[in-house]
Amino acid sequence: MSQFLPEFLQAYIPTTIQLIYLIATGFFIVGIKRLGSPATARSGNQMASFGMLLGVVVTLFDREIVSFEFIIAGVVIGALLGAIAAKKVQMTAMPEMVAIFNGFGGGASALVAWGEFTRLDPTLFETQALVTTGLSILIGSITFTGSFIAFGKLKGFIPGGRIALPGQNIINLVLTFVALGLVGWFTIDPEYQLVFWSLFGLALLIGAFTVLPIGGADMPVVISLLNSYSGIAASMAGFVLGNNLLIISGALVGAAGLILTNIMCKAMNRTLPNVLFGAFGGSDDPAQTGTVGDKSIQQTSADDAAIQCAYAKKVVVTPGYGLAVAQAQHVLKEVANLLEERGVTVKYGIHPVAGRMPGHMNVLLAEADVPYDQLYDMDEINPEFASTDVVLIIGANDVVNPAAKTTPGSPIYGMPILNVDEAKRTIVFKRSMSTGYAGIENDLFYSDKNQMFFGDAKKSLQELATAIKELD
Ligand code: TAP
Repeated sequence: MSQFLPEFLQAYIPTTIQLIYLIATGFFIVGIKRLGSPATARSGNQMASFGMLLGVVVTLFDREIVSFEFIIAGVVIGALLGAIAAKKVQMTAMPEMVAIFNGFGGGASALVAWGEFTRLDPTLFETQALVTTGLSILIGSITFTGSFIAFGKLKGFIPGGRIALPGQNIINLVLTFVALGLVGWFTIDPEYQLVFWSLFGLALLIGAFTVLPIGGADMPVVISLLNSYSGIAASMAGFVLGNNLLIISGALVGAAGLILTNIMCKAMNRTLPNVLFGAFGGSDDPAQTGTVGDKSIQQTSADDAAIQCAYAKKVVVTPGYGLAVAQAQHVLKEVANLLEERGVTVKYGIHPVAGRMPGHMNVLLAEADVPYDQLYDMDEINPEFASTDVVLIIGANDVVNPAAKTTPGSPIYGMPILNVDEAKRTIVFKRSMSTGYAGIENDLFYSDKNQMFFGDAKKSLQELATAIKELD
């Protein structure tokens, strides 16, 4: 596009491009910072998108560009597909969509490296370009197949359980070392095509082999890790192309993905190797599960729960995965409105890994227009439970399970939880006594202070709303 500018301006183009890349980077960083709070997340997203638009437009002035037709076709098709996906995909299917996007990101980086390898004479590449070409192929291809397997597991095309060969972890380790060896070989002898293609094929295989053994419910952590990989692959592709914006934006995605993976692992009290190499949950050992023998539970009804909530001073709602399954967020908001009209203080306590993806509960509650200032992080809400009259536990299980504090050896022992057991009364909304994601019993259900409200969360909350309305 630079050819359309007057000649005296053309000399300034390279410097101007770098300067605008720097400005775009500023938009990315401030945008990411603003994503940290629900109140500023929307504008943060817009800022980061604007930074990306700036980067794309400015790159079009690069003298190296040979064909605008393909670029325009790519932008139109990509924008169309992205817009349709953003509109159509349900909130609950967000992890699947992120998985696909990561897969495309990794695949695109591998294709960029492949393109440069075939377009140019690789023997003329400097060592740095060769190493990064190899790494871009390796990491990008692992991300591509790994992400599509993750997508298949979440969608149910691929069985969610562990699919592995005997000694799979050792096989994966060996294959990874072989692949790194191939990157080294490629760097020394880039003309030897067989090495390049073997690296490509092996990396695709490693991606599939790494994700297939991981259980479907652990996919959000894996997707976050693959997100980080896709960023690193993009950064490598940036080195291959000599594009500073791609290097920086890839590094930002890589770092953000790693930080998120770390936060998720910490909040689940698990290590990353445990997620990647170890099965989780479903233990039948009573010592581990915290089974409480023949202790009984108390059940409640809509009318009884309505009285307890309506005459309470403070009610805290702790939502979990079941809220998302039941899509009960709107009727929950209706219940909260009814209580507030009666002068009850209503707050929401959000555990960092409630649900199945980061920010799952925040997104659901925001969809139902729950005010941000009523959402409290675990650390903020925990000191408040002792002064809470009623806690409504909606489809949550592991995140309120006291075994995390009391049962050494339990898979969730040490995981920080919402201390709902400190409140005067808890009411659990779920369909049965079955376990949650970790597959372990929950002693809270048998507590004297607890009552069970069995049924689908949406239906139960509708009954509760009706019962509150009927109170005078
Ligand atoms: P869970 O422990 O999975 O419990 C969810 C409960 O919801 C189940 O016990 C289920 O009981 C109930 N439920 C399901 N459908 C329902 C419906 N339609 N109506 C009412 N209840 C329903 O959920 P949690 O407390 O949110 O904990 C999240 C778990 O996922 C943690 O173990 C966490 O480590 C894990 N995890 C989270 C993430 C992220 S980032 N959020 C990522 C990976 C794993 P019934 O079947 O009896 O109804």
